[in-house]
Amino acid sequence: MEVIIENSVQDICKLAAKFVAKQIRTKPESVIGFATGKTMVGLYRELARLHEEEALDFSGIYSFNLDEFVALDADHPCSYRRFMEEHLFQHVNIDPDRICFPDVMSSDIAAACSDYEDRIKKVGGIDLQILGIGVEGHIGFNEPTSSLASRTRLKTLAQRTMHELARHFGSVDSVPAQVLTMGVGTIMDSSKVMLLAIGQDKAEIIRKTVEGPITGLVPASALQMHQVAKVFLNDEAAQSLTLKPYYRWAYEHKPDWQRFDR
Ligand code: F6R
Repeated sequence: MEVIIENSVQDICKLAAKFVAKQIRTKPESVIGFATGKTMVGLYRELARLHEEEALDFSGIYSFNLDEFVALDADHPCSYRRFMEEHLFQHVNIDPDRICFPDVMSSDIAAACSDYEDRIKKVGGIDLQILGIGVEGHIGFNEPTSSLASRTRLKTLAQRTMHELARHFGSVDSVPAQVLTMGVGTIMDSSKVMLLAIGQDKAEIIRKTVEGPITGLVPASALQMHQVAKVFLNDEAAQSLTLKPYYRWAYEHKPDWQRFDR
């Protein structure tokens, strides 16, 4: 895992966006896995700016979102499809035919999940998976004790996650309890993964993810086994890391050929 720390939220979002931009510029037909949530807002704003001001071209990419609420219409104001439209898709030149979500309206949920896996395979697999993290260590909606080999499937949200989401839905009771989410195994199959975390409330789970044991209790800790995993943190999210000075030093001393930020 490579841990990259910047002092401000804006700077870490800019750096994370540069990593995504490099992927898209290197392979214009990249398959990108997208996440939603408040952490992603600054990153997507920066990607939209790169499109607008630096001609970052999204027309060739395929997008696969990590998760969506079961039986929630794509037009619902709280659907992740709407989130992506509002924060990214409507600001860039992505081809609508290349936007993919799991089919949460299907009458055959198991078939919809295996179809999602097939669609990812058909375009050659995910080149870069973007991730946020829940305070209890979920990536996608792989809640604690998820199988580290899991594939796209239905998951029931943890109550804490439902409380986090209640701010969007108005009340906990209005949050759909079930989602379709890529599995940890699906995420691990991506060629590269990047996790972005911001704020003090993520500091403890980031410590467990990066420096703790690999365990299904902290699904994000599986990323320690990924060959190309970058963890982008602002200073607050990094504050509990024991080796924080080393991560900063190592990033500053990266050889030029390894850099994506210049
Ligand atoms: C959402 C997702 C989740 C979020 C996580 C963090 O698509 O996959 O894992 O990334 O819950 O959410 P925020 O950024 O709102 O704290």
